Amino acid sequence: MNVHDSEKMSGIFSESGCSQSNDINNADVIVLNTCSIRDKAEQKFYSKLGRLRKIKENRPELKIAVAGCIAQQKGDTLFKNFPYVDFVFGPNNIDNLQNWIKNGAGNLPADKQDLESGVRSTNNRHRTTAVNDNPDYHNKLLPVKREGQVRAWVSIMYGCDNFCAYCVVPYTRGRERSRSIMDIRHELIGLANEGFKEVTLLGQNVNSYGKKLTDDIGFPGLLKALHEVNGIERIRFVTSHPKDLSEKLIETMKELPKLCNHIHLPLQAGSDKVLSLMNRRYTYGEYKEKVNMLKQAIPEIAITTDIIVGFPGEDDGDFKMTLNALKEIQYDGIFAFKYSKRPDTKALDLPDHISEDIKSVRLDKVLKLQEEITFDKNKKLEGKVLEVLVEGVSESNKSRMTGRTGNNKIVNFCGDKDDIGQLVSVRILKARQHSLYGEKA
Ligand code: 5AD
Ligand code: SF4
Repeated sequence: MNVHDSEKMSGIFSESGCSQSNDINNADVIVLNTCSIRDKAEQKFYSKLGRLRKIKENRPELKIAVAGCIAQQKGDTLFKNFPYVDFVFGPNNIDNLQNWIKNGAGNLPADKQDLESGVRSTNNRHRTTAVNDNPDYHNKLLPVKREGQVRAWVSIMYGCDNFCAYCVVPYTRGRERSRSIMDIRHELIGLANEGFKEVTLLGQNVNSYGKKLTDDIGFPGLLKALHEVNGIERIRFVTSHPKDLSEKLIETMKELPKLCNHIHLPLQAGSDKVLSLMNRRYTYGEYKEKVNMLKQAIPEIAITTDIIVGFPGEDDGDFKMTLNALKEIQYDGIFAFKYSKRPDTKALDLPDHISEDIKSVRLDKVLKLQEEITFDKNKKLEGKVLEVLVEGVSESNKSRMTGRTGNNKIVNFCGDKDDIGQLVSVRILKARQHSLYGEKA
């Protein structure tokens, strides 16, 4: 989500005639796009921002902007504590960057100031963060400067209504809003015309797409409409909330050939007690039932997940249930995190917070177990011929090309630059922990 937000910011700069500088000491404007999902990301941002002070002291004309979820949550404090920050804007106000640049990055005229909606301006410093549900934002088509030429991100909805007890997103990105099917289709047609072959539809909970739109088309309906767009050969989506994963969606995934055989379905924890404390609104049994339905409908489907260890109240028995879930479900890959306290969230008030030491031990155990499972699953692909959408030259070995299978395995192989953007059949010769190596079949 944040990467795509950065692409939108780059697009706005490009459209305004600015170009990207690879040298921080040469830049006229520096934008830090922040993430506040866990404390670690937040601390990283503060240390980066601290380092910019010196640069600004030497070059007072440099403009510094802070974007993203920390900007949204800490707007005023940032302004107070970091007097060298010029512009602070939240994830629902990226379009405000256009005005800021147009007005010379810091000379917003008084008539553009609107204290009611959270636009504040003092001594040419501006904050536009308070509007959580900016109704214009998700209807606006912002210019986007995309990374790569083969795969593209497309936002289909913004915000989240779920209020999981640990999560800051509903507070930083606001309530759930869906983009209109027409806008999304229009964006996909544009991408196809530019030569993109794969799109990943983005939302915090894509399964509930369209909930508040007047035409009740739903996520499966959106997928059917987008499937018609010529030139786009693969469609992915993230993230799916297990409670909203419907039989209709599973049927649609099975029916539509362009839909990739991969689903990211965050479990978070294997214990019903912890899931309930997290306000996830499903039990492990219900989750497993949906996984079984998916595997039955699409046997080759890859399933990945997110896991949080050390949520308040998670005892040894609860944690074992998470390990057990990994063994039972046999995920293709996971993202695992130590529970991190986040401002405003309900979990802060829960009893029995877990020590950092125990969280670290649990995280290690989860990662180690999953490494074995992932490697075993990758090993089973040796000798198979898989269809790979080629994205470019491999970062780690310039003589190889890299791409992904439909079920999201990274494949490196000996090929040439003409393969970029093509679907190529590759025979898998060697499985590695995080990728596969092969040759053209
Ligand atoms: N602590 C740890 N992990 C978190 N996530 C979200 N909030 C927190 C938190 N406070 C994880 C969840 C989510 C993923 C995007 O980040 O697993 O699915
Ligand atoms: Fe956060 Fe839960 Fe919404 Fe995901 S579904 S963004 S974890 S509140």
